[in-house]
Amino acid sequence: MAVLTRRNLIKASAVAGVYGAGMALAGRFTAAHAAPEPLILKSNKIQANITGTDVTRDVLTYGNDGMPPVLRMRQGEPFAAKLINGIDEPTTIHWHGMRIPNAMDGVPFLTQPYVYTGETFDYAFTPPDAGTFWYHPHCNTLIQMGHGMTGVIVVDNPRDPTFDADIVVNLRDWRLGGDGQFIAQYKPRDAARSGTYGTVRSANWQVEPQYDAPTGGLVRLRLAITDVTRIFSFRVEGAAATVIAIDGNPVPKRFALDVLQLGPGQRLELAIRMPDSEGATVTLEDIHGTNPKTLAKLRAVGASLKRDIGDLAPLEPNPVRQADLGAAEHIPIILSATAEDTAKDSICGSLGYSFWAINKVPWPGDTPDPTAPLAELKLGKSYVLDMENLTPHSHPIHLHGMSFTVLSSNIGTVQPFVSDTYLIQPNEKVQLGFVADNLGDWLLHCHIIEHQKTGMTSYMRVV
Ligand code: C2O
Ligand code: CU
Repeated sequence: MAVLTRRNLIKASAVAGVYGAGMALAGRFTAAHAAPEPLILKSNKIQANITGTDVTRDVLTYGNDGMPPVLRMRQGEPFAAKLINGIDEPTTIHWHGMRIPNAMDGVPFLTQPYVYTGETFDYAFTPPDAGTFWYHPHCNTLIQMGHGMTGVIVVDNPRDPTFDADIVVNLRDWRLGGDGQFIAQYKPRDAARSGTYGTVRSANWQVEPQYDAPTGGLVRLRLAITDVTRIFSFRVEGAAATVIAIDGNPVPKRFALDVLQLGPGQRLELAIRMPDSEGATVTLEDIHGTNPKTLAKLRAVGASLKRDIGDLAPLEPNPVRQADLGAAEHIPIILSATAEDTAKDSICGSLGYSFWAINKVPWPGDTPDPTAPLAELKLGKSYVLDMENLTPHSHPIHLHGMSFTVLSSNIGTVQPFVSDTYLIQPNEKVQLGFVADNLGDWLLHCHIIEHQKTGMTSYMRVV
């Protein structure tokens, strides 16, 4: 069992209080909807054929049949899952982008104890937002996520417009050697730069898979970047693609996809109008870096449905409160590098180095005794994060538990996207507004896991 420090005991009881409040609210739903049977999510070590040629050992997943399952939930309806830890180290589940009670957030030491081998943990919450989200451990994440434990969540809104196909693509890399077996997950010198890239790229744990979609039909293509490092620049060849949602939230104004850059943790939803000729293929590409890379293909099948992209009704916005900008308090968030240092003891998969800092603090992150929060926020009050990137690298900065709206940036006009992760560019200053409407301790960290684990993890407390 975990050696709970005094601080954790206090926290554990405080969290129980928050959770209790959440359950009382959930109770109102259970009157209408019977409490669901928990979905069993068992973490497991398996073998899998990802490269197409070799069987890779020591792959980690949920379940025992390849990729972690795509979880389907319904907006406003209770969901429950039981984590059974079947791997030989502690783990937890974090529900990325979901605005749920703090005790369900899955961050060891901060919101829940470790779930040790053979132990279980019950997660139960009601997703307030519809869209594309994802789940992953928040413990030794470079290994657990790097070896496979990243799954996609689709939260349905029954009032969504009808598509002819709904295709989910989990995008991630694997660090495999020529024999198809895992190699060292990172190199310290790369952790101090843009992160260590995988050697094999996959979509739904396959190399360049192809999916059938109705000719002339409308496809809702949901892309989730669950990789620990890679930033993508998406392009679609062979069909018109319209951006309908980013990071689980409908975009305020749809736009035609030209090229769009998104980082680890982010999701993109496209409406694709399939070509009218049967057999035609549509290619999803990543054109970041030097060589464009095919990620997946769609092939038109059947007689043309002759759908029109203009027929698609808008997606309903999620019930995210907008910050009151006149009254909002501003919080500076400065991202910087620290002098490179040598390895120290690590816990929960921190890499033991510090290369990065938030507001000059190289955060130890994920420790049993976190330092004081970066900021203490008042429940219900509006805030603006004035975030500035002083490093020469991009960082996908993720906020747990609350969604923000992108207000402005010094590098150009921005659409007021609602999101949980913002990919900040070198020298960019961005303003992110939100209402602190969720009690508890919420992480704010870079989703390039090597950055997260070497200083770029802090947290904010809502009281
Ligand atoms: Cu995707 Cu701290 O999480
Ligand atoms: Cu980063």
